[in-house]
Amino acid sequence: MEPWRTIIEPFRIHSVEPIRITTREERERALEAAGWNLFGLHADDVLIDLLTDSGTGAMSRDQWAAIQHGDESYAGSPSWYRFLGAVTELFPFRHVIPTHQGRAAERILFAVLGGPGKVIPNNTHFDTTRANVEFSGAEAVDLVIAEGREPATVHPFKGNMDVDALEKLLAERADDVPVVFVTVTNNSGGGQPVSLRNLRAVRAVCDRYSKPLFLDACRFAENAWFIKTREEGQADRTIPDIVRDMAALADGMTMSAKKDGLANIGGWLAMNDDGLAERCRMLEILTEGFPTYGGLAGRDLEAIAQGLREVVDEDYLRYRIVSTAYLGSALDAAGVPVVKPFGGHAIYLDARALLPHIPPLEYPGQALAIALYMEGGIRGCEIGTVMFGRHPDGSEAPAAMDLVRLAIPRRTYTQSHVDYVIEVVAWVAERASDLRGYRIASEPAQLRHFTAQFEPLA
Ligand code: F0G
Repeated sequence: MEPWRTIIEPFRIHSVEPIRITTREERERALEAAGWNLFGLHADDVLIDLLTDSGTGAMSRDQWAAIQHGDESYAGSPSWYRFLGAVTELFPFRHVIPTHQGRAAERILFAVLGGPGKVIPNNTHFDTTRANVEFSGAEAVDLVIAEGREPATVHPFKGNMDVDALEKLLAERADDVPVVFVTVTNNSGGGQPVSLRNLRAVRAVCDRYSKPLFLDACRFAENAWFIKTREEGQADRTIPDIVRDMAALADGMTMSAKKDGLANIGGWLAMNDDGLAERCRMLEILTEGFPTYGGLAGRDLEAIAQGLREVVDEDYLRYRIVSTAYLGSALDAAGVPVVKPFGGHAIYLDARALLPHIPPLEYPGQALAIALYMEGGIRGCEIGTVMFGRHPDGSEAPAAMDLVRLAIPRRTYTQSHVDYVIEVVAWVAERASDLRGYRIASEPAQLRHFTAQFEPLA
C-alpha cells in the first residue's frame, strides 16, 4: 500500500467544456424568469450544476471510441449483443429489456404489475418510481429502517429495508403485493447503501410469501463499494462478485444507465420470469422500440456496455466515494447540517435543521437551494416537501425530511470546483437566518417539483 492520503481523480482531462460565470443580478433575473424553480433555468446560467448525477457524467475515451462501433441495425445489432453481454456479466437475469432510461422500465413493469388495490413496498421509492406506481393506481409504501429517516443518525447501511415492517405488510396484505422493491443505493433517503445481509433477509421474507424481489439498481456499483468497505467478510471480494451476489438475491431489476452505467442515456428492465417478460416486451414494443434496442441508438448501447466495465473499477469507485465524502466532511466541519454518513453520489444538506424558522410547508429545502444558486451559481435539488409533500388525494403534508441534494456528476468536476462549493454553502449557512420561505403559485397534478412556480414570502 502507498503511504499517500490524497485521493486523486484517476484520469486526465481530455476535452473540456467551458462554464460561464454570471453576476448575482443576472442570477436573480434568471430565477424570477424561472418562477423560482431551478429546473426552469437555462443551464448556461448555472456555474456548478449539482442538480443530478443522472446522465451528466463525463464519458471516457474508451466510451467515445465504443460509440464509433455503434451499429444501428433495427433488429439484432451487434451493439445489442455487446450491451447484453455486459449487463448479464453483472446481472445474469434471463431477460433483459432495454429502455431509453430508468423510468421507462418502471412504467412498463408497473403497467403490468401495478393497478388499483395493489401496494408496492420499497426501502424508499424515488420520485419517478413512486409516480409510476401511483399512475398505475397502486399505492407506494416506503419501509426503510428508522435510522434511514433520521438525517443525523449514523448507520453503515442506512438504506436497509425494515424487514419487520415488510413482514407485517405481507402478513396483512400479501395478495395485494405483486413485487417487493429495494433501491440500491437509497437515493431519496440520502444515497445510503443496503447491505447484502439485509437483502438476504428481505429475500427470505419474499420467499415465505412467494413474492418476487426487484432491485432498483441505478447506483449498484456505489452500493457494492459500500458493501466491500463496510460489511463484515466482504473486504477481499471483487466488486463484480458483490454485484452478482446482489443480483442473485433478486428476481429482476430496473436500471437507469445514466447513473452507474456511466452513460448519458439508457436503462433496462431485467427479470427471470418468462411470462412477465413476455408481457413487458409487448409494452416495450408499443412505446420504446424493438426489444434489441428499446429506445436507444446502437451507439448508446455501446457506451453503456463500456461504462459497465469501467464503473466496477476499484480505483474509480474509491475516488468516487472518497471525493463525495470530501465535500461532506468539509461541510460538516463548517457546521452545516448534512445527512450522515455521506452517500455515494451526493451530499444532502438538512435544510429543516439549518432553517428552523421556515416551516416545512414554506419549503426550507427550496429556500436553501435557491440561495445556493443566487449566491454562488450552484444548482442543487430540493428533496423534501416540494418533491414529496403533495399526495394523490390532493392533500399536502410535510415530507419525512427537507433536504437539498448536491449530486456529483461522475468524473466531471475537480477538487477546486468542490472547494468552491464548500465555500459558498458555508457562506450561505452562516446567513441562514436571513432566508425566507416560499409559497407555490401554481403546480401540476403530479411530479410538481419539475414545473411548479414559486413566490418568495415577504
Ligand atoms: N430510480 C432511482 C433510484 C433514481 O435515482 C432514478 C433517477 C430513477 C429510478 C429513474 O431513472 O432518470 O433514468 O428515468 N434519478 C435521477 C436523480 C433523475 O436525479 O436522482 P431515469
